[in-house]
Amino acid sequence: MAMRIDILTTFPEMFGAEPGCALNSSIPGRARAAGAVEWHARNIRDFATDKHQKTDDRPFGGGPGMVMMCQPLYDAVIATEALDPRPARRIYLTPQGVPLDQKLVEQLAAEPRLLLIAGHYEGIDERVIEQLAPLEVSIGDFVLSGGELGAMVLIDAVIRLLPGVLGDDDSARQDSFGVAEAAGKLKPPVERLLDCPHYTKPREWMGRAVPDVLLSGNHAAIAKWRLERRIERTTQRRPDLLEQ
Ligand code: ADE
Repeated sequence: MAMRIDILTTFPEMFGAEPGCALNSSIPGRARAAGAVEWHARNIRDFATDKHQKTDDRPFGGGPGMVMMCQPLYDAVIATEALDPRPARRIYLTPQGVPLDQKLVEQLAAEPRLLLIAGHYEGIDERVIEQLAPLEVSIGDFVLSGGELGAMVLIDAVIRLLPGVLGDDDSARQDSFGVAEAAGKLKPPVERLLDCPHYTKPREWMGRAVPDVLLSGNHAAIAKWRLERRIERTTQRRPDLLEQ
């Protein structure tokens, strides 16, 4: 059964279903066409109760920006969840959330259903967050204009892990941070490494040759070289990953 993802947003058009739209290109687009995943963006504004379809208001205590009101969002969540009997994992995209990493992506990819809340303005009234108790997720230590791009990043990362989405089961696992080694012979510290460099034709380009070992046909030597490059890169670029 296809994983179901609902996105609650005041900009549902960002999740357009036309070919070429962000999520309808490349792997997510193919995954959707193949029936591995479906997603539906719903406008929180449709759940506003006043005649201006207001979803936000000025913050109590003053200050800049607007705050998303409790009731429209709450009603949107409850109504959306009722569209499918499977329980939805609620996620609110916010810079205050837990950092999204591959481990969390793997956990989310195992869920039958996700419900993503994309906030805007200065944030969401804290009481509706307390009431809904979503997992709060950040895609990085920077501030976006809204949660929509964060939701797309999360959706893309999750979709590529769904069964049957990538032709070669291994290619997801062998990317940076992948866990292929954990399943095989190598031991845990190699689980979360950056990717090795990749090469294709021609064998020489602008005086730069492809490393000999990759042309050797010696699979053990190639695997060893790749692992060494991964360790080297991770040591140079992201020593924090090795410390974890
Ligand atoms: N909304 C605004 N900034 C964000 C971030 N860094 N991650 C997730 N959602 C956000």
